[in-house]
Amino acid sequence: MTRPSWAPEGIDLDRPSASRVYDFFVGGMHNFEIDRTLARQIEAFTPNVAETMRANRDLLRRCVRFLVDAGIHQFLDIGSGIPTVGNVHEVAQAVNPSARVVYVDIDPVAVAHSRAILDGNPAATVVHADICSPDAILSDPEVARLLDFDQPVAVLMLGVLHFVPDDADPAGCVARLRDVVAPGSYLAITHATADGQPDEVLEAQKLSGRTSTEIVLRGKPEIAEFFHGWTLLDPGLVHLPLWRPENPSDIGEHPERSGAYGGVARKD
Ligand SMILES: C[S@@+](CC[C@H](N)C(=O)[O-])C[C@H]1O[C@@H](n2cnc3c(N)ncnc32)[C@H](O)[C@@H]1O
Repeated sequence: MTRPSWAPEGIDLDRPSASRVYDFFVGGMHNFEIDRTLARQIEAFTPNVAETMRANRDLLRRCVRFLVDAGIHQFLDIGSGIPTVGNVHEVAQAVNPSARVVYVDIDPVAVAHSRAILDGNPAATVVHADICSPDAILSDPEVARLLDFDQPVAVLMLGVLHFVPDDADPAGCVARLRDVVAPGSYLAITHATADGQPDEVLEAQKLSGRTSTEIVLRGKPEIAEFFHGWTLLDPGLVHLPLWRPENPSDIGEHPERSGAYGGVARKD
């Protein structure tokens, strides 16, 4: 296939990517037929997958509003994805125009598209990096330019840690950031799970191995471990629609069918 103008040179057009599959599920335009094919195959095994991904995006918006209300004006959003409607900087800067946001993603399409939409926004930027290299993120000049680690920062890891296998030490990466951020900082995590899901979800998980970032489904206790050293805030680690819903439509009929958990914690 020919490379569309928005896709950077050098990307593998024959391999689906997690960020573009997610973009398809949340109604974005930056995906290829190979991504849509994989998305449909995943959906055949887990019909509520698109709903879970939209619930993730809705939680992101509620969470950012909550954090701005809590006085946070600096965001480090790791695994930020291809920008779609309601990105962190849009939600945060709508409430506090001086909010600063650094997006980080491993996917070149996500980075290129983020760079394009952030052009002309001096308070938001994007960095191409791996969550498994926290020191590379922390020492990036763009991170140093926008974020002051002597002040509280919100670290967002929404829908990303399930792409990190145990042998890459995801808990160690989270802990490294915990040790660097100032007291009063926050950590938000959403993470896919097989808890409460039909067995077919495991077939969908295997399909994710066609991308360069295979999904690792973790149970609630394992996901809760990522918050070690932080104080988990109410309502704790819950199915996505149950995290501080703002109206009944956020909850839907069967929140427990959401294939992911979410939680927000503070560093005391
Ligand atoms: C499901 S999307 C989530 C996007 C956004 N955070 C949200 O919740 O709406 C996951 C993103 O994580 C990125 N990702 C996967 N593995 C990563 C890694 N090791 N380091 C940084 N980003 C990663 C993918 O490229 C993708 O853009």
